[in-house]
Amino acid sequence: MKKWLSIITLLLMLVSLTACGTNQASGKEGGYVGISMPTKSSERWVNDGENMAKQFKKLGYKVDLQYAEDVVENQTAQIENMITKGVNVLVIAPIDGQAALTNVLERAHKLGIKIIAYDRLIRNSKYIDYYATFDNFEVGVQQGTYIEEKLGLKEGKGPFNIELFAGSPDDNNAYFFFDGAMSILKPYIKSGKLVVRSGQMKFNQGATLRWDGALAQSRMDNLLSAHYSSKRVDAILSPYDGISIGIISSLKGVGYGKGDKPMPIITGQDAELASIKSIIRGEQTQTVFKDTRKLAEKAVEMADSVLKGKKAEVNDTQTYDNGEKVVPAYLLNPLSVDKTNYESLLIDSGYYTKDQLK
Ligand code: GAL
Repeated sequence: MKKWLSIITLLLMLVSLTACGTNQASGKEGGYVGISMPTKSSERWVNDGENMAKQFKKLGYKVDLQYAEDVVENQTAQIENMITKGVNVLVIAPIDGQAALTNVLERAHKLGIKIIAYDRLIRNSKYIDYYATFDNFEVGVQQGTYIEEKLGLKEGKGPFNIELFAGSPDDNNAYFFFDGAMSILKPYIKSGKLVVRSGQMKFNQGATLRWDGALAQSRMDNLLSAHYSSKRVDAILSPYDGISIGIISSLKGVGYGKGDKPMPIITGQDAELASIKSIIRGEQTQTVFKDTRKLAEKAVEMADSVLKGKKAEVNDTQTYDNGEKVVPAYLLNPLSVDKTNYESLLIDSGYYTKDQLK
C-alpha cells in the first residue's frame, strides 16, 4: 500500500511539474521567444535583434536570438532548433522570403507556435499571424522624389543620366522599393528627361542578390566602363546603404567626387553609420531612416498580444498578400534623411550620438 502511495505521489508531482512547464511555455508566465535575424553584417539587424531582445526580456520573456549570416540553410536550421527548444512564438526577418521557410513554418504551426514576419514579408505560408514593417512602397517613393527634387525635374530641367539598382530578388521588400521609386521616375524616363544609358530598367537587371555591396560595386564598374567613359552619370537609384557604399567605391575609382567631377546624387536606406558619415562628407546624398526601435516595439507588441490570445493593432489589411493570405500588417513611416536634417532626425531623437558620427 505504502509503495503504491509513493508511486501515486511521484506521479502527481510529475504531472504538476509538466503543467508548470506548459504554463510557462504558453506565455502566461513569460513564455519563450525565438528571434531569427538574417545577418550581423548590416548593423541595422544587430540593432533590431538587440532592441527586441531587450523589450521582450523586460516583459518577462525568455529569448533565443539568432543570426544566420545570410545563408538560407542556417536560418532554417536555427528555426528548427528554436522549435525543438520549445519557443511559443517566432519573430522572423527572412533571408529568402519566397518559399524557403514554408515547410519549417508548417511544422511550427502544427505545434501551436505563433509567427510574426519582421520587416520582410514571409511569402507562401498560411501561418503568418502578423507582419511588422515600414511602408515599403513609400521608402521607394522617398528615394525617387529625392532624385526628382535634387535634379529639378519638376521644373523641367534635364536630360540627366541615371542608373537604377534594386535589392535582393528573394526579398519581397525589394520589389516595393523599386516600384515606389519607379512610380516617381518612370514619367521622366518616358519623356527623356532621365536617360538610363545602360538600358537596364527592369527590376531583374538592377537586382542585387542578398543586398551585397560588392556585387553592386562590380555592376557599377561595368556600367561605368561600358556606358560612361565619355559621359557623366548624374544620379543613382540605390535601395540600401550597403549597396550605395559599393557604388560610391566604384565611382571614386574613376575619379568622381573630385574637382570638376562631383558625385552623382545617390540614394540609400537604413541610415547606417557608414552612410551618415558618407553623407556628412558629401559622398552619398540621401538615405531613408527606419527607426528600428519603433519596429522592434511593434513586433514585441504583436507577439505579446498573440500569445495572450488578443488581437494586435494593425493599420494595413490589404497590401501584403503573401500568396496564401493577406497578412495583417502594421506599417511605420520611413523618413528621408540628408545633410540638412540628419541632426534633428538621428541625433536629437537619440538614434545616434554626435560622437558616433565623427
Ligand atoms: C530590406 C530592409 C532594408 C534593408 C535591406 C538590406 O529587407 O527592409 O531596410 O535593411 O533589407 O538589409
